[in-house]
Amino acid sequence: MTERARAERIREMFDRIATGYDRQNTLFSLDRDRAWRRRAARLADLRPGSVALDLCTGTGKLAAELLPYARPGGRVIGLDFSPRMLELARRQVPGVEFQLGDVMTLPLADRSIDAVTIAFGLRNLVDREGGLREMFRVLKPGGRLVILEFRPPPGGPLFLLYRVYLAGVMPRVAAWFGMDQRAYRYLADTVQDFPSPIELARLLEQVGFSDVQVERMTAGIVALHRALRPN
Ligand SMILES: C[S@@+](CC[C@H](N)C(=O)[O-])C[C@H]1O[C@@H](n2cnc3c(N)ncnc32)[C@H](O)[C@@H]1O
Repeated sequence: MTERARAERIREMFDRIATGYDRQNTLFSLDRDRAWRRRAARLADLRPGSVALDLCTGTGKLAAELLPYARPGGRVIGLDFSPRMLELARRQVPGVEFQLGDVMTLPLADRSIDAVTIAFGLRNLVDREGGLREMFRVLKPGGRLVILEFRPPPGGPLFLLYRVYLAGVMPRVAAWFGMDQRAYRYLADTVQDFPSPIELARLLEQVGFSDVQVERMTAGIVALHRALRPN
């Protein structure tokens, strides 16, 4: 399958699951998802007047957390390629400029953004490195990139429960409640295939980012990366 066809399937899936997406996030994260996004918003280190770009914004939850930091005088742009997700975002989050677009070809000028954030989105990109290069391109020198993502469960008994939860419990619970089981299998597969926090830090440096910091949250199941575009 070509990258284009894969991206189209991913977009269709997110369109399909958009209704109920927020509720399911809160349920399956055991209500931790808001705290994760709040921390990501703080790490973006916005000031009044800053321009922030939240990629793969979905229903705009992280964009909403960024808004108070950029005000007054700043802008928050939320970008996603799923029209259905954006429809919900526009209804739920006033004040954010939501744009339909693809992370792989950002419709934004070079060096125009103070902070780029992406929550649970990098995993879905068909070309991860290409996406990171686009983020680097639009950031101003000194601009921040904040990535919030599930961490692939490492081997060993400590993470056995997490693996069972991800690959066994979530798809089953989804089926009981009539949710899209395929979406939860996709989630488990993409989390397993995602680079470890150290590998992702290396990839960020390869793309040109500096000062990469990693924070692990909720017993290490979620990782936050923060990196700078150097001058
Ligand atoms: C798991 S959701 C995350 C939504 C939101 N950031 C959150 O914190 O809940 C992933 C989102 O990424 C979007 N997405 C995936 N690939 C994309 C791409 N190449 N360009 C734009 N949006 C993309 C999907 O449409 C979906 O809304």
